[in-house]
Amino acid sequence: MMTWEELESRCMACQNCPLAETRTNVVFGVGSRQADVLFIGEGPGEQEDLQGEPFVGPAGKLLDVMLEVIDLDRTKVYIANIVKCRPPRNRDPLNLEQDACIGYLRAQTALIRPKIIVCLGRIAAMRIIDKDFRITRQHGQWFDRAGVSMMALYHPSALLRDPAKRPDTFLDLKSLQAKIREVCPDSFVTKR
Ligand code: URA
Repeated sequence: MMTWEELESRCMACQNCPLAETRTNVVFGVGSRQADVLFIGEGPGEQEDLQGEPFVGPAGKLLDVMLEVIDLDRTKVYIANIVKCRPPRNRDPLNLEQDACIGYLRAQTALIRPKIIVCLGRIAAMRIIDKDFRITRQHGQWFDRAGVSMMALYHPSALLRDPAKRPDTFLDLKSLQAKIREVCPDSFVTKR
């Protein structure tokens, strides 16, 4: 298995897809490499591309609030994306781009060995949980994949566009908190 150092340096130099031509920074991931909970977004936006860190723009500010609701913060979890480079004009990442990039996320996941994976939005859920995932119907539902508990939340950008989705997300976050208490009983990630 690759070390973090090897993985990160390969990713930072990646030329596997055309997004390498237009990126400012590779957005590798942030947080605890010992985290029990891994959050997976779609791909960097403008601010993420400029700063080299996931979820630092408007959606990221809302993600911080969502984490705070259940006594988490970005130092206690790990946050990464399906694609590590910004798709131009924030369009959805193409399958070709996702295929070129997913190996980095798989390697990160193998190193972290999270007990829980939270997909942020439909693109991540379709890639990680089920290719036919329906976010409106299946957000907040738990799936078991090889002993790892997985769920999807609405993407924070969707919650910014449509605040009517927020009450559902609050319930989904409480379900995540309960799951953390169940499967990470002596974890520091969420207070009793
Ligand atoms: N949206 C995402 O999916 N990921 C980020 O890192 C920022 C915004």
